[in-house]
Amino acid sequence: MDTIITKVDEQNIDDATMRSAGKIIMAGGLVAFPTETVYGLGGDALNMESSAKIYAAKGRPSDNPLIVHIADWDKLEMIVSKIPESARILAERFWPGPLTMIMNKSDAVPYETTGGLDTVAVRMPVHKTALELIRNSGGYIAAPSANLSGRPSPTSARYVIEDMDGRIDMIIDGGDVEIGLESTIVDLTGDTPMILRPGYVTPDMLREALGEIDLDPTLLSGDTSIRPKAPGMKYRHYAPKGSLAIVRGSQDDVVEYINKKLTKVNDKSVRTGVICTDETMRRYEASSVKSVGERADEDAIAHTLFRILREFDDEEVDVIYSESFEGGCLGQAIMNRLLKAAGHQVIDV
Ligand code: TXA
Ligand code: MG
Repeated sequence: MDTIITKVDEQNIDDATMRSAGKIIMAGGLVAFPTETVYGLGGDALNMESSAKIYAAKGRPSDNPLIVHIADWDKLEMIVSKIPESARILAERFWPGPLTMIMNKSDAVPYETTGGLDTVAVRMPVHKTALELIRNSGGYIAAPSANLSGRPSPTSARYVIEDMDGRIDMIIDGGDVEIGLESTIVDLTGDTPMILRPGYVTPDMLREALGEIDLDPTLLSGDTSIRPKAPGMKYRHYAPKGSLAIVRGSQDDVVEYINKKLTKVNDKSVRTGVICTDETMRRYEASSVKSVGERADEDAIAHTLFRILREFDDEEVDVIYSESFEGGCLGQAIMNRLLKAAGHQVIDV
């Protein structure tokens, strides 16, 4: 399939391009597009064949439900059986934005979109190009992250092209995304709202809005035998091709440990990599040393992490060590992705 690749400037959106992209989606085709979190791979959420095509393009298991993206609050009513009060409160504060809410679905949403579940995940992104695309496409776009299954979510159109060129109808290139981690997912179908995936909207922010909040216990544990509540969280994800281990401890101990490990790799054909911060960058001796930014700059870390994991793949790095990035507001979201990428391999020094 020939994929149309077209640039759209969020500050000066070309209406004709958005109309033709919308037509593709309404005709059952697939269009990748930028959002503020990561790029999405969009199809008509109410068309079961579109959802089937999304799974095929990603190589994704079809029991992994898709997020339905809307652009206007009044569109929500049709796809959920009832709007919970908590959804109104959260939407007031966080929509449009990087928050996905899970509610009971209505009959309008096919089971192909929800991976067979009676619930539906809904998000209203803030990216103007995404909103325009949704409005031009009938109002409901099902969109997982626009990566091949198992690879890091794309934070730039170039990675979407890498994974999806030839597999979908169109890619809208909107440059780099702003946040770089996928949305926070909160399940509103139980007695207490529960976070299923940490993201830019933190537990504290949700707690302040709603009071008590639970966290899916599997998020904090490395025990892969417990089934996470968001089906997609169970899959090995984001993993680079090389081996990746996280080293945790005081700054000096971590630097010393990693360098010691790296000097033990004597074989010149083995490429080594380190994920670190600006503060320690110059202290490592590896084939490729990459900084996520200053340690105190959480936004930069979130923004850079997926890109670095992909760069290590491009450079065919075999052995990677990463510093740990806990603490702060986004620590949980960042570490959730990094731990998955590392298959929960953590070394405490
Ligand atoms: O930021 C984002 O959320 C991006 C952009 C494109 O909006 N989308 C995204 O979608 O990350 P995806 O498909 O890569 O991740 C969706 C996650 C999966 O882990 C899936 O299992 C979970 O949401 N999910 C979707 N619907 C669900 C439901 N009804 N119940 C539980 N988990 C659900
Ligand atoms: Mg994804």
